[in-house]
Amino acid sequence: MRKKIVAGNWKMNTTVAKGEELAAAVAEKSKETGETLLVLAPPFTHLTKVADKIKGSQVQLSAQNCAAETSGAYTGEVAASMIADTGAKYCILGHSERREYYGETDATLNKKLEQCYANGLIPIFCVGEKLNDRESENHFNVVKTQLENTVFNLNDEQFGKIIIAYEPVWAIGTGKTASSEQAQEMHAFIRRILTEKFGAKADCTSILYGGSCNPSNAKALFANKDVDGGLIGGASLKVDDFIAIATSF
Ligand code: 13P
Repeated sequence: MRKKIVAGNWKMNTTVAKGEELAAAVAEKSKETGETLLVLAPPFTHLTKVADKIKGSQVQLSAQNCAAETSGAYTGEVAASMIADTGAKYCILGHSERREYYGETDATLNKKLEQCYANGLIPIFCVGEKLNDRESENHFNVVKTQLENTVFNLNDEQFGKIIIAYEPVWAIGTGKTASSEQAQEMHAFIRRILTEKFGAKADCTSILYGGSCNPSNAKALFANKDVDGGLIGGASLKVDDFIAIATSF
């Protein structure tokens, strides 16, 4: 059985105090979300405080990124070991905003994946095509190449832990969601190529959808056989919306 997961990527939003308030409210309401795993990914500055607020609940903590190196003279970077030290168990990697605005390449992401595994962090690894890729019907190729260049380098044990997030770039923060059919089609494609590489283990890999997911569309998206939950941006900043999404299975 695959785990159902709803993860909130807060991106660069909230003060520490607001983040604590939001985390406490999610922890309180997580009693209503059954078996679904809830994950919160606040900014680095909030991690230890959010960890305190979710302690004892079923909510888990994630970072939004980690350094590609272990430690040392890398001004402004945060090591995977430091993230693990806050109590975080997950780390988002390869988000399209990092690829686009910070020039993250597949080579960088391979180093970051290694850092996560070396420090016991579970990667939530993002893939997804841009609008022009979809319009030129190249979306399957783009996603396949992203996976081949990164996730395919993992060993079986590492692969067994990863969470994949399919986030079509054209749907992120745009209010434009992939249709339920588009999401299922891509998720099934991702699972098929992961199965070709890693075998039946890919049956157990949670594949999350991300991109303008909200309480109104989550049910239709999550009803698909290969959609195991969501990676939520904007709607994760509102506790009622986030919990409504988490109860949309
Ligand atoms: P939105 O839900 O705001 O579109 O963001 C999705 C996302 O990028 C989550 O990582």
